[in-house]
Amino acid sequence: MAGKELPFPYEFEELKPEEEELIRTTVYPTMPVPYVRLGPKGYIVFKPYMKDAANIYNMPLRPTDVFVASYQRSGTTWAQELVWLIANDLNYEKAAEIPLTHRYPFLDAFMYFDEDTIEEYLDTVTKTIVAENFDREKFSEFVRVVAKPVTPLLAAAPLTAKRFIKTHLPMSLLPPKLLDTAKMVYVARDPRDVAVSCYYHTKLFTMGGCIGDFKAFWNLFHRDLFCLTPYFEHVKEAWEKRDDPNMLFLFYEDLSKDLPASIRRVADFLGKQLNEEQINRLCDHLSIENFKNNKSVNYEDLRDSGVLANGETFIRKGKAGGWRAYFDDEMTRQAERWIEDNLLDTDLRFPHIRH
Ligand code: A3P
Repeated sequence: MAGKELPFPYEFEELKPEEEELIRTTVYPTMPVPYVRLGPKGYIVFKPYMKDAANIYNMPLRPTDVFVASYQRSGTTWAQELVWLIANDLNYEKAAEIPLTHRYPFLDAFMYFDEDTIEEYLDTVTKTIVAENFDREKFSEFVRVVAKPVTPLLAAAPLTAKRFIKTHLPMSLLPPKLLDTAKMVYVARDPRDVAVSCYYHTKLFTMGGCIGDFKAFWNLFHRDLFCLTPYFEHVKEAWEKRDDPNMLFLFYEDLSKDLPASIRRVADFLGKQLNEEQINRLCDHLSIENFKNNKSVNYEDLRDSGVLANGETFIRKGKAGGWRAYFDDEMTRQAERWIEDNLLDTDLRFPHIRH
């Protein structure tokens, strides 16, 4: 496959037909592009990822770069705003003026669409998406923007500009010496809350075409058949680097329990000093209630294109431990076993789980 010719160390392989079948029949009948599996850990990515995999792996870095990385739905947006505001001396005006998506190019977003087949895709979408506010022109503009890899944009950023980069890629798909040059803030979250949040996220984005219930989704997620799983490999790769001076490893649950303490850790990491008053204001700004209404971070600007499903929002419950309401006894036991098994070969421990 194409991966072989690239200055990129991993091979891509197709999913097994029975895995494809399971995904399509239980949860996603109309996925825009197929999954492939990548490298020794078997990360699941969308096939267009192959086009920019090598450019990402080899991207030139700068000492002023700040990555905010996570497995998706782990509190990335929350951490992004927190990091950006501290790094930019609490410039709330600028944060309100420039949407978070513009402040942080999203390194891996392009893989959700295939730039070469956008027209065919739009034709299908026009027939299948029934969102009341669907607007083909606006929808198409969104797809075209997202489908473009951002590595050229990042390379073209003026040398005087500090680059903030969002990614859901695991460390092994990023430049191997990233932490020798750039900084990374990585956020991890209880995988049960992540699973619930991912499920609602795929319902939020109309093109996901999610038809299954949460149990069907959970079945895919914990069997490593959802985008960028295996979840634990993702987290462990970052956890192994947690003592690197250029890595700050955060847990969503710690932010949730004691936001001022996490703010102080981020400030220390970025070499900034904050007084109590500044910390209090930042806590208030970062509260879930404010986030829900903050147009710069809540993705509501996509609402009038039909990209977002009615009744679903990007900023959702914002709760640690909310998974309990979605797991039956069988799933709870399954999840406990799954977590236990995956923590056997690591000293990774989640702060809020009694191990
Ligand atoms: P829930 O779906 O459990 O509510 P990401 O930004 O990585 O996509 O993560 C999204 C998750 O973080 C969602 O979780 C979202 O509600 C939550 N979140 C976003 N902003 C938050 C905030 N200010 N406080 C707490 N949780 C927040």
